[in-house]
Amino acid sequence: MRLLVCGGAGFIGSNFVRVRLRDHGDDVVVLDKLTYAGRRENLDGLDVEFIHGAIEDPGAVATAMDGADAVVNFAAETHVDRSIAEPDAFVRTHALGTYTLLEAARERAVRYLQVSTDEVYGSIDEGSFTESSPLAPSSPYSATKAGADLVVSSYFHTFGLETVICRGSNNYGPYQYPEKLIPLMVLNALHGDPLPVYGDGMQVRNWLFVEDFARGIGHVLEHGTPGEAYNVGGPDECPNIDVVRRILALTGAGEDLIEYVTDRPGHDRRYSLGSEKVRALGWEARVRFEEGLERTVVWYRDNPAWWEPIRSGDYRAYYERQYGRSLG
Ligand code: NAD
Ligand code: DAU
Repeated sequence: MRLLVCGGAGFIGSNFVRVRLRDHGDDVVVLDKLTYAGRRENLDGLDVEFIHGAIEDPGAVATAMDGADAVVNFAAETHVDRSIAEPDAFVRTHALGTYTLLEAARERAVRYLQVSTDEVYGSIDEGSFTESSPLAPSSPYSATKAGADLVVSSYFHTFGLETVICRGSNNYGPYQYPEKLIPLMVLNALHGDPLPVYGDGMQVRNWLFVEDFARGIGHVLEHGTPGEAYNVGGPDECPNIDVVRRILALTGAGEDLIEYVTDRPGHDRRYSLGSEKVRALGWEARVRFEEGLERTVVWYRDNPAWWEPIRSGDYRAYYERQYGRSLG
């Protein structure tokens, strides 16, 4: 397949590209704006055509989409805390960007997969969300992602465009920007910096190793029914404080580094995704949280050349704004 991968220089996008080249021999074009989270070096050594551009730019999208058999859209602003501090880019990329891609896909009748999130369903105290659960997003991030999902579905119903939506739970693994819980805590533990736990630390996330999500997305692209959404959830749930304690144990750092800080406004308490529908298509998560977390800690420990430029760059200023203290 000739695939256009939007946002392919980010965390999940670059892992997806790696899996597709390795396991399927696809021909891949990446369109990416290279925001703070997008890094050209995430694709180093991979045989892809790279186009630097935004999904809300119709010219860049037309160039990138010509000749594609399918589009997979990862391009997004992805950090909930940033969406609370500065929502503008979230609205632009998720609303205008998704619309621009859909229009180009409609003109060319190209199959379209939207990468979405469990956060569109909001928080759930017990049980798990299914694909027919109502959308009830809490943050500007999840609300704009939910809006994008609805526009995608409208292009199936109104124009007959072959669309599918893939909603993933919390991903972790190599190449994740260290603003997110797991890489932030791993790098702080390795540096002896405090580990900032929001609120009581008892919020629960449903952890999914990034390669499992990458395989799930490919599976839905190939076997999903047009017009449908598919949940792709991880095999394990874990409260944040337990995640942090496991990271301390794996890095050999002490629990005295844990620091409880002011909670995130509108913080969702628990996510849990039912994935029976995608399992019925033949996908299964392969990596349990215990194994995946250990692999992730080892990857960050062994790849300072990847994170040093981030940790010594703009990320420092972001960290100070968000946490009111500087990194050591
Ligand atoms: P990321 O922040 O690591 O990467 C996002 C990528 O999109 C970057 O390369 C960035 O440069 C690019 N991008 C942003 N705005 C763009 C624009 N306007 N035009 C072109 N490129 C643009 O994000 P991620 O964690 O890899 O997430 C990828 C997708 O998966 C997102 O759609 C996200 O909502 C979804 N998702 C993420 C998770 C998770 O746990 N990280 C879970 C479920 C779903
Ligand atoms: O569920 C899927 C979503 O997972 C994706 O759609 C998002 O793009 C991705 O960012 C992620 O969202 P979360 O808000 O769940 O992830 P984050 O890593 O920001 O936080 C995970 C949990 O850890 C959450 O309960 C907040 C908490 N947390 C996070 C940070 C950064 C802390 O306690 N301290 C922190 O410093």
